[in-house]
This record gives sequence, structure tokens and C-alpha cells, in this order.
Amino acid sequence: MSRPYKRYVDSFGLAGNEMVLDYGSGWGRISRHIAERLSQGNGHLTCVDVSKVWMETIQKRLKKYPNVGYKLGDIAALDIADGAYDIVVVHFVLHHVPKDEQQEKLAILARKLKPHGRLFIREFTRADHGTPPAEIRALMSTAGLHERESRMTRSLIMGEVFDGVFDKAPA
Ligand SMILES: C[S@@+](CC[C@H](N)C(=O)[O-])C[C@H]1O[C@@H](n2cnc3c(N)ncnc32)[C@H](O)[C@@H]1O
Repeated sequence: MSRPYKRYVDSFGLAGNEMVLDYGSGWGRISRHIAERLSQGNGHLTCVDVSKVWMETIQKRLKKYPNVGYKLGDIAALDIADGAYDIVVVHFVLHHVPKDEQQEKLAILARKLKPHGRLFIREFTRADHGTPPAEIRALMSTAGLHERESRMTRSLIMGEVFDGVFDKAPA
């Protein structure tokens, strides 16, 4: 089950020395592979989640990686440097964020990126359990992120998935 997630992380093209932020890191399905890759260089991964349970779980799961930091809480209130990250990952998290907060959170995530940084997002597209692609694109564009590439894939259980990469244009 882990191989598709490793393949996804491989697609980020990490050299190993990057700063990466995994927003809504959960139990570490994606973070684990990022941490492994970054442990081969001097990169650093920041895991952010609002769930204490998942944060405790991921800390145990990734304890062998010294290059990982953990931040519990709302990203709006967390002490995380702006303009510091090469890559932000939002993997099946957006629909968990209340609609009226999504724009604010994406603007904050865009701010965390370095100029030319990239945001990788995967999100279900069903309106009742996901975010339609047009909404994702509008949110990203308002946050100052430009679509680099995207494609639709399918999850057997949950249906269509938007898989996109967005660039931060330098100010
Ligand atoms: C479906 S899980 C995905 C976890 C992980 N990204 C993955 O793909 O394995 C959604 C995660 O988003 C987290 N989450 C929900 N709202 C959040 C928010 N406002 N800020 C950060 N994390 C949030 C949840 O606690 C949960 O861990």
C-alpha cells in the first residue's frame, strides 16, 4: 500500500536538502517518504496537523528521523517562518478545512513558500466530499499560486481525484 505514496513523493523530485511542509500530515502516509528522502541530505520536514491524536501517532512513527519537526494546531497561529519552504504538500486535506477558511489557509501556505516554491495537492473532486477542480484552481489563483500541471485520477472507493502542482510566482 505504501508504494503509490512513495511514487507520489518521488514525483516531487527532491534532492534531499529541501525544506518541506506537509499540511495535514495525519499519520504520515506521505511524510514518512518525504522524511526518508530528506534524511539522505540535510533537508527538513515540518508536519502540521490540528489533531493531537494524529500528531502523537506520527511522532512515534517517524521518531527515527531527526530532520522532522512537528507543529500541532491551526497554521494561522503556529510559529512557522514565511518564505522558508521549497515544497508544501496538501494531501487529501482541503475538504477537511471549513469552506470559509480554505482561502485563508491556502494564502498562509503560499506565504510559507519561497519564491518559485511549489505546492502539491491531491483532493477528491466530489462536491459532497471534496473540492471541485474549478474551486481548487480559484483558491490557488487567489492565493497567488499558478498551475504548473494537473491531472485527474481515480480512487476506487472515493472516485475522481484532482492531482495538481502549483508554483509561487516571485513577488
Ligand atoms: C484524510 S487525512 C490526510 C492525512 C495525510 N495528508 C495523508 O494523506 O495521509 C486529513 C488530515 O488533515 C488534518 N486536518 C484537518 N483540518 C486541518 C487543518 N485546518 N489544519 C491542518 N490539518 C488539518 C486532519 O487532522 C487529518 O490528519
